[in-house]
Amino acid sequence: MKILVVGGAGYIGSHMLKRFQDTEHKVEVLDNLSTGFETNCLDFTLHKCDLANREKVYSILQNNYDLVMHFASYINVGESYINPKKYYENNVTNTLNLLDCMVDLKISKFIFSSTAAVYGEPSLIPIDEEQPLKPVNPYGNTKAIVENILADYQTTYGLNQVIFRYFNVAGADPEAEIGEFHQPETHLIPLILDAVDGKRDALTIFGTDYDTPDGTCIRDYVHVCDLVEAHILGLKWLQEDRGSRVFNLGTGDGFSVREVVEHAAQVTKKTVPIIESARRPGDCTKLLSGSSRAVSELGWSATRSNMKQMITDAWRWHQNGDYKK
Ligand code: UFG
Repeated sequence: MKILVVGGAGYIGSHMLKRFQDTEHKVEVLDNLSTGFETNCLDFTLHKCDLANREKVYSILQNNYDLVMHFASYINVGESYINPKKYYENNVTNTLNLLDCMVDLKISKFIFSSTAAVYGEPSLIPIDEEQPLKPVNPYGNTKAIVENILADYQTTYGLNQVIFRYFNVAGADPEAEIGEFHQPETHLIPLILDAVDGKRDALTIFGTDYDTPDGTCIRDYVHVCDLVEAHILGLKWLQEDRGSRVFNLGTGDGFSVREVVEHAAQVTKKTVPIIESARRPGDCTKLLSGSSRAVSELGWSATRSNMKQMITDAWRWHQNGDYKK
């Protein structure tokens, strides 16, 4: 297949590209490099383009792609409260530009990166894909809106799609060629590693009074390499014309913030300086994925998603001195 990876210069997109190096697919990248890095595109052709530029997107999409993968979103929950316009513009309006160009050019296969944030504060744990979408922050709203648009575009325009709802993506390429780097960083594991090696004074734990055994939030972490493996299976799913489907991507195992800190201390053999602070707005107490659908229907298995492995891979990348371009 000929595949366009939108957002390939970012954290997850770049791991996808690396995985594509081992396949027969012809792959190109579209990215505006606003948060990603050109070096993350490896040797793939990069079309530098903003999804807001509908004409340019249309002309790039004329290159006969069979399938589009869309990783290019803003993902910071906190920022989405401060600047919701930025989130609705990019995550919704710009995605709609992409989808409309696809429909016009009859590109009918789409893989979309959604998020566990579409569920909001869940009433049932683990959360399976049938639970209602009740996002509690603007970021989650943008993803739920796109999911609804996609359902309508499937019905009316025959746009076949696989939607992946990511839980907490973590880890890095085991060869440490690429890894996680956001600016500013807001994700737990890279922040812990920054605190471990003195790049920041301490990790701030947001909230120690949650209704969990140690008072800190529980999340379901999935290794970025397992995540991209699911995308390879999603691609096959669409290739085999199995219709549109939503899949959670998580393991069902939960780790509290304190447990992640303990694992990081063991892996790095260093102390993690911590400061305890108030809750962060928009955080749910506990998010755990019901992922049996991805396992039974896609044949997915999360082989690298144990906490020690994820931190080991992230730490190796973190120590790879000059990664902060
Ligand atoms: N946390 C801290 N201190 C920090 C950063 C995070 O205590 O400095 C805590 C958070 O409060 C949360 C946990 O660590 O309890 C994980 O926080 P992250 O920011 O790493 O991740 P989130 O769970 O907030 O969000 C991530 C993605 C979202 C996605 C969500 C789905 O960023 O896009 O997972 O589970 F929606």
